[in-house]
Amino acid sequence: MLLFTGKGGVGKTTTAAAAALSSARAGIETLVLSTDAAHSLGDAFGVPLDVAYGPVQIEDHLHAMQVSGRAHFAGSWTVVHGYLVQTLAALGVDPVVAEEMTSLPGAEEIAALLELRTQVESGSWDLVVVDCAPTAETLRMLALPENLAWHLGRMIPGTVGLRRAARPAAAAALGIPLPDVEVLEVIRDWYADMLAVRAILASPRASVRLVTTPESVVIAESRRTWTSLSLYGYAVDAVYVNKILPRVADGEDGLAAAWLASWNEAQERGIAEVVTSFDGIAVVRAPYLSCEPVGPDALAALGATWADEALAGGDILDPVDAAAMRVDRTADGYTLALRLPLTSAREVGLQRREDDLILTVGDHRRIVTLPSVLTRCTVSGASVRSGALTVGFVPDPAQWPR
Ligand SMILES: Nc1ncnc2c1ncn2[C@@H]1O[C@H](COP(=O)(O)OP(=O)(O)O)[C@@H](O)[C@H]1O
Ligand SMILES: [Mg+2]
Repeated sequence: MLLFTGKGGVGKTTTAAAAALSSARAGIETLVLSTDAAHSLGDAFGVPLDVAYGPVQIEDHLHAMQVSGRAHFAGSWTVVHGYLVQTLAALGVDPVVAEEMTSLPGAEEIAALLELRTQVESGSWDLVVVDCAPTAETLRMLALPENLAWHLGRMIPGTVGLRRAARPAAAAALGIPLPDVEVLEVIRDWYADMLAVRAILASPRASVRLVTTPESVVIAESRRTWTSLSLYGYAVDAVYVNKILPRVADGEDGLAAAWLASWNEAQERGIAEVVTSFDGIAVVRAPYLSCEPVGPDALAALGATWADEALAGGDILDPVDAAAMRVDRTADGYTLALRLPLTSAREVGLQRREDDLILTVGDHRRIVTLPSVLTRCTVSGASVRSGALTVGFVPDPAQWPR
């Protein structure tokens, strides 16, 4: 699975469609699926994609599909949302939890994830290309499976086992309304769904591709996106620098030539910055074409300019298991390491809460449930060095049997 994201307007939809097309024309059974509410995937192919239906065939080996929250996912959310609102009101909620709960996203992202899973598990496709929403929404979507599973996992154990007769007393003791059976069933299904979605997204068979243009503001956002994706444990295997202007011809002068020469210079600096920032990741350059690439043939022509054989096959380049957080033994305890490129210690926040470690980078937060060996340790220090966060743990003597 390849997920394409980036700032608004950079060419995510166009690039995702062109990537899907080149793999389809190489004989790979490909689905391109858009989770962006902007619905422009159909426009890129010049084919209407009705959200109410499933995948639409574009040509041999290529189907396209538009996901919409409202169409795919309404009933079960209403059931649970009503309960959540009641519960939050009844609780004097821990502020961290309250914030997480209220930042529970809308139906759109969940619907997109569930549809993604359905399509990936259908066995119909060799490659699923995802045209994602702009960066902020995509990050919210990709943070969701783990966050939601964390909360759902905590809602289940105490309540599922209770027999009907015991429920009123339990509700009184807890001080919150207990979810009824219908709500519990939805929650249990979601929990399983979210764990499955997370497993798919974080596996070495899925990767994110960032689309950028060679402008410094757009590149800055791509850099931050890479850091945030790494925080959540998602791999990035390629960066597409789209809309590179043609070089001004030698000996040309006049206003237009001066304008173009000035952009040439700025874009060259931008491309150099992308290459140094995304060291070790494939950087794909794509020209600013003389018209909008609309329709399969125009998209295929754009794909042909990428001039990288490996990209046509739809393979993940150099698959890295970014999700793997590594725990190592040290002389006096353990270290937990997480890839976190393009960050400095100043930007990273770290907080221990019982069995969880709460990591923040800027506005992004990940709750990492610690492996059991680390829950019986105290944090001894942390550092951010050469693209990785390392947290040191030492055993807490009070918690280890002698
Ligand atoms: N390489 C390119 N050359 C010319 N036009 C492009 C190129 N890439 C994208 N476009 C055009 O730019 C606009 C925005 O592209 P789109 O793929 O919809 O961006 P996004 O999905 O990131 O919002 C569209 O009109 C599209 O046809
Ligand atoms: Mg788009």
